[in-house]
Amino acid sequence: MTTHKKIIAISGSIREGSSNTNILKALAAFIPEGIDYSIYNGIQDLPHFNPDIDGTEPPAVVESFRKTLAESHALIICTPEYAKSVPGVLKNALEWLVSSAELYKKPVAVITASPAITGGDKAHESLLLTLGMLDTNIVENGSLLVPSVGTKFNDNATVKDESTKQSLIDLINSLVYEINK
Ligand SMILES: Cc1cc2nc3c(=O)[nH]c(=O)nc-3n(C[C@H](O)[C@H](O)[C@H](O)COP(=O)(O)O)c2cc1C
Repeated sequence: MTTHKKIIAISGSIREGSSNTNILKALAAFIPEGIDYSIYNGIQDLPHFNPDIDGTEPPAVVESFRKTLAESHALIICTPEYAKSVPGVLKNALEWLVSSAELYKKPVAVITASPAITGGDKAHESLLLTLGMLDTNIVENGSLLVPSVGTKFNDNATVKDESTKQSLIDLINSLVYEINK
């Protein structure tokens, strides 16, 4: 029996109708056959990171989150910028992975999308720093800013801007290349 490789995606926005979550939904169209792709929807259920509760028996939601990532072969994060940085809910989720190291050397792609023309560059930079500290493998073409996000996608999570579409395809292809090599 062949086991499919798994890509997990996490949105930094837990908002209903999030443009970042919509980008992650749009990516499903570019995932090749034989790769399982799913969006992890549970980061809002993680408690605030606290080393005191990260002992031998961390909370069940934390264990479940870590297990999901341990069983994945690659990660895609797509996030907005909040107050010129990474949304707290996403940063909190990443803090839970520092000691357990599920992302160590794992292929990762990072997208920041914003209605602003900056594309959320400050959050992007900050997220790359955090992922560097976690010793992830940011793949070639795996770092993408999507400025003016409202003009680039249809409401039904399809890409209408050709250049953005090509960048997303390149990002997926690089990630798949890394997990298959
Ligand atoms: C509290 C708050 C802070 C924000 N700060 C920024 C910011 O620093 N830079 C930026 O480009 N957009 C900022 N925005 C706008 C978000 O990029 C915008 O709401 C975006 O649509 C959120 O992503 P989502 O559609 O995936 O939820 C902020 C929005 C909120 C609610």
